[in-house]
Amino acid sequence: MLSAGTEIRSKLPKVGTTIFTKMSKLAEEYKAINLSQGFPEFDCSPGLQILMDRYVRSGKNQYAPMAGVMALREAISKKTYAATGVEYHPESEITITSGASEALYVAISVAVHPGDEVIVFEPAYDSYVPAIELNGGIPVYVTLDPLYDGIDWDVVATRFSAKTKAVIINTPHNPTGKLWTESDLQKLGELTTKHDVAVISDEVYEHIIFDGRSHVSASAIPSLANRTFVCGSFGKTFHITGWKVGYCLAPKEISAEFRKIHQYLVFSVNTPAQFALAEYLFEPEHYLGLSAFYEKKRNLFINSINDIGFEIKPSEGSFFQNVSYHHLSGEHDLYLAERLTREAGVASIPLSSFYNEAVDYKVLRFCFAKNDDTLLKGAEMLHNVKW
Ligand SMILES: Cc1ncc(COP(=O)(O)O)c(C=O)c1O
Repeated sequence: MLSAGTEIRSKLPKVGTTIFTKMSKLAEEYKAINLSQGFPEFDCSPGLQILMDRYVRSGKNQYAPMAGVMALREAISKKTYAATGVEYHPESEITITSGASEALYVAISVAVHPGDEVIVFEPAYDSYVPAIELNGGIPVYVTLDPLYDGIDWDVVATRFSAKTKAVIINTPHNPTGKLWTESDLQKLGELTTKHDVAVISDEVYEHIIFDGRSHVSASAIPSLANRTFVCGSFGKTFHITGWKVGYCLAPKEISAEFRKIHQYLVFSVNTPAQFALAEYLFEPEHYLGLSAFYEKKRNLFINSINDIGFEIKPSEGSFFQNVSYHHLSGEHDLYLAERLTREAGVASIPLSSFYNEAVDYKVLRFCFAKNDDTLLKGAEMLHNVKW
């Protein structure tokens, strides 16, 4: 083994192996049904595969334009207009990114300077806080119970200070499966206008919404649209998490700053995938049926574990279902998630890993983006757990 010739001072000293890697490894070791990591078990549509193949074979294999293939930016503009009535100009307000992960990282880098505070709602997706810290920013938390009923906006108001420069939101939300209402977004609009701060809105699950609800994008709220980076992804929408194609919508002046960083981080994104997605987006049927597809899976999973004694609030969106086991056991969620993997053969994610201080609410997150057989098998095995 090589030993380093120079000492590198870590910029992320607290970051180690993520819980997702840990649980997936444990699942593999114990041959468990893996309902932990959030990616689909099934393939993308043959139609999309054919398009990708066609564009690779027709020579679309060199660098794409820095801001993205124009046909894809136009298709996103059209899709966003149809959903929200807001027009993002493909030339200057839409940038194609390497997944939403890059969009989020760049947006945070644009908005956050050393010493700035950023309001983060927790439980939170794991990439936000490291990106804030790498930019010298300070996360300020609004802590929500994973089964929360609503956001207390008086509490949120207390988190703003003269140093606040951005707020990060995520709707539909990973890991709680909650949707933000129009009223939530209006309240956020009032506060962020008053304090003049940027908003970074992670909307990667925008097409996975249940029980007749609708996704309200930050772009649809005028007081937010002019200060928001809307970060989207095709990974969840088309079962192509491995393609890593996402985008950022933002007003012209903000997009110009976004592109300055994007161009030196990745310069441009996978060319044939962009052409394929541009063509695939022409047909709204390709994403409008997704909610019904996942709602069936959510219902199948919930109905198959309903008699175990968990407290379950059906997920409102995303492909995650949380279950509270506080009636069944007092075990720490981290230990329980490990025990379920080892003893029952089902891997999940403990919710405490989404909190800065690892708060244990006795809740586990299960991903239902799996084949029905896998969900039924997982549910059956959860019946064997000794409480
Ligand atoms: C809430 C949330 N944001 C962003 C991402 C990353 O998206 P992408 O794979 O497009 O980079 C994920 C992926 O799991 C996610 O759950």
